[in-house]
Formats: sequence, C-alpha cells, structure tokens
Amino acid sequence: MTPLSGKARLAGVIGWPVAHSRSPRLHGFWLQRYGIDGAYLPFAVKPENLPAALAALPLLGLRGVNVTLPHKEAALGLCARVSEAARRIGAVNTIVVGEDGALEGSNTDAFGFLEHLKASQPSFQPESGPAVLLGAGGAARAIAVALLDAGVPELRLTNRTGARGAALAATLGPRVRLVDWADREAALAGAALLVNSTTLGMTGQASLDLDLAQLPRQAVVYDIVYVPLETPLLAAARARGHATVDGLGMLLHQARPGFAAWFGHEPEVDAALRDFVLAA
Ligand SMILES: NC(=O)c1ccc[n+]([C@@H]2O[C@H](COP(=O)([O-])OP(=O)(O)OC[C@H]3O[C@@H](n4cnc5c(N)ncnc54)[C@H](OP(=O)(O)O)[C@@H]3O)[C@@H](O)[C@H]2O)c1
Repeated sequence: MTPLSGKARLAGVIGWPVAHSRSPRLHGFWLQRYGIDGAYLPFAVKPENLPAALAALPLLGLRGVNVTLPHKEAALGLCARVSEAARRIGAVNTIVVGEDGALEGSNTDAFGFLEHLKASQPSFQPESGPAVLLGAGGAARAIAVALLDAGVPELRLTNRTGARGAALAATLGPRVRLVDWADREAALAGAALLVNSTTLGMTGQASLDLDLAQLPRQAVVYDIVYVPLETPLLAAARARGHATVDGLGMLLHQARPGFAAWFGHEPEVDAALRDFVLAA
C-alpha cells in the first residue's frame, strides 16, 4: 500500500459479515496502481448499528462507503439524497459524503451489469430480442431495471418462489412477463439474452437445472455468479456455441463510480485487475 499522509482520502465497505468481500482488494489494487494517497477498509457492522455507523461517516471525515449484504435496503432509508436508480432498485450500494456532510446514496449494480455486458459483447443489442431473467432477489431487481432501461422489448422473469417473482414484476411495468419456474425452458424460445441471477451454480449451492435446447444459438448467456468463474451454465452455453459473459466483470465495473467519487480518479477494469481479484 502507498504510505498514507495526514490528508489521505478514506472510504470502505460496510457489511455483516464483511470478511468475504473482495472490494478492499479491488479498490486497494486501484489505489496502488494510481499511486493515490488513500485507503479503502472493511467495516464489519451489525444491522442494529448501521444508522450510527453511517451517521459517523462525515464525523470521521470518510469520503463514503460501499454497502453490502445485509444492509443495502436499510441504507436507502438512511441517506439524505438517493439516486433515481437506487430508488427504483430499492437498495443503495454506494454512499458518497456530500460537500455539506449529507449522505448521497446510489446503486451501481445495474451500471456494472450493463458495462460488463457492453465490454464483453460489444455487438450485442439489448433491443434485439426478449431477455430471460432467472431469479427475483436483490441482484435481479437491479438487472431488471438495467435491461428495461437498455431497451429490451420483453423481459421474461422467472423465479422459484412465484410470489416473489410476481412482487418484483408488479413494480417493473408492462414489458415484463412473469413465467412459472416450471416453464423456464420454454421461455428460452426466441430469446436474445439469458441471465442467471439466482445463487444456483455457485460453489456450495445446488446446480441450475436448465436445458438450453430451446435457446437460439445466437443468444448471449450471462451468469452473474462468479464463484466459480465458469459456472456449469456458462460451460453448457459455451459448448452449444453461445457467447458467454461471466459474473466477475459486473463486480469490477460496479465499483468504478464509487472509486471515482471518493478518490478522484476514473479507474479502469482490465485483465490485470481481474487476475488480481481472482487470486484472492
Ligand atoms: N457479479 C456480481 O457483481 C453480483 C452482484 C450481486 C449478486 N451476485 C450473485 O448473484 C446471486 C444472487 O444474489 P442476490 O443478492 O440476488 O441473492 P438473493 O436476494 O438471496 O436471491 C437469491 C435468488 O436465488 C434463488 N434461489 C436460491 N436457491 C434456489 C434454488 N434452490 N432453486 C431456485 N432458485 C433459487 C432465489 O429464489 P427464491 O426467491 O425462490 O428463494 C432468488 O431468486 C448470488 O450468487 C450472488 O453472489 C453477483
């Protein structure tokens, strides 16, 4: 780490637990790469202490923080100003302490999802056809907002727990079509994009049971699970000749706006960063 001066810019990530977070490693790489007088620290904060911890940010002179599980929804109600995207997604993952000391909350998951899609598959056009989204959790909400804003003509949303899928679909407008989890394979017909935002396929979790036979060969398959980097879904998609997008880049790109706001430098996502974060 670059030695700090008394003027060092400070930021971090608040979670409970926080030990698994890759954000300190990710931001630490950029701080070192750009020779910035700053630090990014992990803060393990219990849910009941979140209001006090956030209120302390301006008092301690922190520039801001990322907020991760389980605090993302609660943080929304604790920021003085909240971006439109964060309000629609219903969660805040990035907080910047404003000039006046007020907390400004935003959500960069949708941004990270789309930026990584654009970087990995530059010729993919979201308007080109329906997208199928598996899952209705926190990540799915951000991805649904991202895809609708990007212009997908139809978003086919399917979730194991139908009521949770229906609750999400109800907030998203007429381009969303709710599909029964049992009918998820039929929903692949004619799709231009398939996104997995469930935990299925993640190391230690059950595998995703999905036959891709009905998915057009030119469709892009994006799995936001990044442990392992090539999930069984991505391996199966690659074997069928689909273009694939892994989940790591979403994590890296979502970090960019926070870093730029706290440390005053637009950071780059490249292979060296990917390798460094993966090596953790
Ligand atoms: N790449 C990135 O930057 C990034 C960002 C955020 C999250 N993620 C990853 O995305 C995944 C989801 O995160 P999240 O925050 O959205 O989690 P979450 O809010 O807990 O949602 C979990 C989702 O997985 C589904 N699910 C879990 N077990 C299932 C099973 N056995 N069968 C079918 N569906 C199942 C849930 O369905 P039910 O509603 O039926 O329970 C729900 O849709 C995690 O693996 C996380 O690491 C990656």
